[in-house]
Amino acid sequence: MITAIAAVSENWGIGKNNDLLFNIPEDKKFFRRTTLNHTVIMGRKTLESLPNGKPFKDRRNIILSRDTNFCAEGAEVCHSVNEVLNLIKNEDAFVVGGGEIYRAFLPCCAAALITKVCAEPTADVFFPNLDGAANWKLSEQSEEFVYENLRYSFCTYENHRDIEF
Ligand SMILES: NC(=O)c1ccc[n+]([C@@H]2O[C@H](COP(=O)([O-])OP(=O)(O)OC[C@H]3O[C@@H](n4cnc5c(N)ncnc54)[C@H](OP(=O)(O)O)[C@@H]3O)[C@@H](O)[C@H]2O)c1
Repeated sequence: MITAIAAVSENWGIGKNNDLLFNIPEDKKFFRRTTLNHTVIMGRKTLESLPNGKPFKDRRNIILSRDTNFCAEGAEVCHSVNEVLNLIKNEDAFVVGGGEIYRAFLPCCAAALITKVCAEPTADVFFPNLDGAANWKLSEQSEEFVYENLRYSFCTYENHRDIEF
């Protein structure tokens, strides 16, 4: 099963200047706990946004780039969605961003784990608005938590359309 995982603002913003919009410790812990020892799939720009441009530890990292010369230490590089799907076969995997990669993989995702933050900072990259997508349904929402002045909750969306492979 493929699951997308993202932290979004009120208007589904996810990033600005190749960086995250929020830094919420409990959300980082949730991300780590959820993805640890699993496969994570990300775009080349998201890899470059990570500390020292290094892949996530203790996870199988798959990076998408159209550049056939692109290499990343500690990661596998794929050049299309289909190449990734063939590589992971039926293994569980998490799509961890960014915007281009979420858009490309959402039709293949059965669920999306969305940390919704009640704030609307300026963003230049967005997650598709699942509240406006006919086939995506909010199935679970946690209580609201607060970090500094940010209110946020953990939401699960399920894809009710036949998953595309
Ligand atoms: N809020 C969150 O949860 C979250 C999570 C992750 C990232 N982010 C944010 O998202 C932003 C980055 O997102 P982004 O949309 O700019 O970039 P991205 O999705 O991380 O990466 C885009 C790159 O992926 C490659 N790519 C995209 N589609 C492809 C395809 N179909 N086949 C092969 N390669 C493909 C291309 O690499 P090449 O140019 O090398 O060909 C493209 O330039 C940052 O601000 C980051 O902080 C937010």
